[in-house]
Amino acid sequence: MSEPFYDVIRPHGGALVDRVMRGEVREAVKERAAGMARISLDPMGLSDLELVATGALSPLTGFMRQADYERCVEEMRLTSGVVWPVPVTLAVEQELADQIKLGQEIALCEGDRVLAVMEVAEKYPYTREVKEREAREVYRTTEEAHPGVARLYGRGDVLLGGDVWLVDWPAAVKAEFPELRHTPAEARRMFARRGWRSVVGFQTRNPIHRAHEYLQKTALEIVDGLFIHPLVGETKKDDIPADVRIESYQAILRDYYPADRVLLGVFPAAMRYAGPREAIFHAIARQNYGCTHFIVGRDHAGVGKYYGTYDAQEIFDQFAPGEIAITPFKFEYAFYCKKCGGVVSAKTCPHGKDDWIYLSGTQVREMLQRGEMLPAEFTRPEVARVLLEGVKRQVDVAPSQ
Ligand code: ADX
Repeated sequence: MSEPFYDVIRPHGGALVDRVMRGEVREAVKERAAGMARISLDPMGLSDLELVATGALSPLTGFMRQADYERCVEEMRLTSGVVWPVPVTLAVEQELADQIKLGQEIALCEGDRVLAVMEVAEKYPYTREVKEREAREVYRTTEEAHPGVARLYGRGDVLLGGDVWLVDWPAAVKAEFPELRHTPAEARRMFARRGWRSVVGFQTRNPIHRAHEYLQKTALEIVDGLFIHPLVGETKKDDIPADVRIESYQAILRDYYPADRVLLGVFPAAMRYAGPREAIFHAIARQNYGCTHFIVGRDHAGVGKYYGTYDAQEIFDQFAPGEIAITPFKFEYAFYCKKCGGVVSAKTCPHGKDDWIYLSGTQVREMLQRGEMLPAEFTRPEVARVLLEGVKRQVDVAPSQ
């Protein structure tokens, strides 16, 4: 019997992009690439390349050309009119850009290794002024204290636009969670095999805590399957490392989640910390992986105090029905209530702050650094133990930091 085909939700823009070269063509292109001018990708570039190549960013087929970039920044759309909230661009230094001609093929590399070829269709300026406009529009702040804005300001001053073809995978594909790195096509097949007709995606850059579990399981009451999809690309230095986060999931999945309703995967993207716009980006990508619904809770993809608690939910209302096919499941701020004896929100609990237990990310980090166990109302003890071990390992590796 042929493989069941998962067609419950179409990829964003209509078709799943596949920019992975295979077979003899790949060999030939790889050989040709050895003689091409080289550009070394930074961690976000490596993530974006993997995402574009596998179709996670469908309908994008490469790094943005200027018209798409402009319309994305100004209107959250591509020139085709399709919704697209964050720029996916390739920045290089002026000196390097000067050596590259339009129409020239270049090799995109990880260190010495060629990963992809790109035909340079366009070169366009990425001056401080252009970056500040991007910061204002996309990140809603021009402050360098914002980690996404700081990265943006540090990028090269010319953007290269063009389609990419992947000839080799970034090292992370083999080295980091290979068994969980399902491509969008694979995830779609896995959903179909399980017979799911509706799947909720969960994005996270943090270890799992009780409120996460509450959102996931509440959503799962309504749909067939849950796709837990932690982001494993670059995050800011003080976020908990991806391996510890994944371990925290593995520590409780077996004992607290029904195996036939939950799939764990990893999302290779880098965090941009662009709050509301990134929530749209996260949702669209999960649609490409085959999710029909997507959880957006409090301050999704936020950082510091740059975004309002529910900005990342409200932004979805700016689009006409159907423009974004995936449906956001919008959740109130959830926490444990001692009187209710479970996780609740202000929407469902009549009690007050004195009965509620919530910890900020900073408080959690400080407790872990002091070697203190986190309260069971905040996180399951199995997870707290993984985190304590993880933080200890980090301190042992970098004692002076
Ligand atoms: S994020 O940067 O990936 O958004 P995080 O891992 O903290 O950060 O959150 C994952 C998802 O859970 C997001 O949709 C976020 O809004 C939601 N979330 C996290 N904590 C809570 C909470 N206490 N109440 C409601 N939603 C939450």
